[in-house]
Amino acid sequence: MHPDLESILFTQEQLGARVKEIAARLDADYKGKNPLLVCILKGSVFFYTDLLRAMREPVEMDFMSISSYGASANSSGEVRLLKDLGCKIEGRDVVIVEDIVDAGYTLSYLKRLLLSRGPASVRICALLDKLERRVVPVDVDYKGFDCADEFVVGYGLDYAERYRTLPYIGILKRSVYEK
Ligand code: PRP
Repeated sequence: MHPDLESILFTQEQLGARVKEIAARLDADYKGKNPLLVCILKGSVFFYTDLLRAMREPVEMDFMSISSYGASANSSGEVRLLKDLGCKIEGRDVVIVEDIVDAGYTLSYLKRLLLSRGPASVRICALLDKLERRVVPVDVDYKGFDCADEFVVGYGLDYAERYRTLPYIGILKRSVYEK
């Protein structure tokens, strides 16, 4: 375990098993629909690539980058669009793939934005759901795990751009971010 972590919350094996289950549900729900799966950079990149490779049905890929201001531990509520989709989504079935829903600002903004472009459907797939922290409502259609209100890092999740490449998800020691 990385020395800055207090404990491991989800092991590589647990993540892999859950990703396969979600992939099977997506395969069943989107059979023959050629959905567009949208990766929200950067946090969801490992979840997204593992999920798509575990799927058997054909899908298309695209990427968006959204960020709340600053490198603080809490979401600010201000959402910035850093990179938009490269394709039109009118009439398409779209699935937004996120690493974590926290206050809900990001996904609520994103879903509204994508719905305004006339897609056939927009659903949300999120690996972690920090329900306790929700400020604006977000319906998570495909969820990996509920997550306690702890500072979690790894498998794409960062603290000040660190720890993203850990293959598991762990809880960061308070001493690291309260320095
Ligand atoms: C994180 C996460 C979600 C968002 C969730 O992104 O990936 O997009 O915060 O927070 P919210 O529900 O309170 O809006 P971040 O802005 O840290 O960017 P990153 O994915 O590049 O790390």
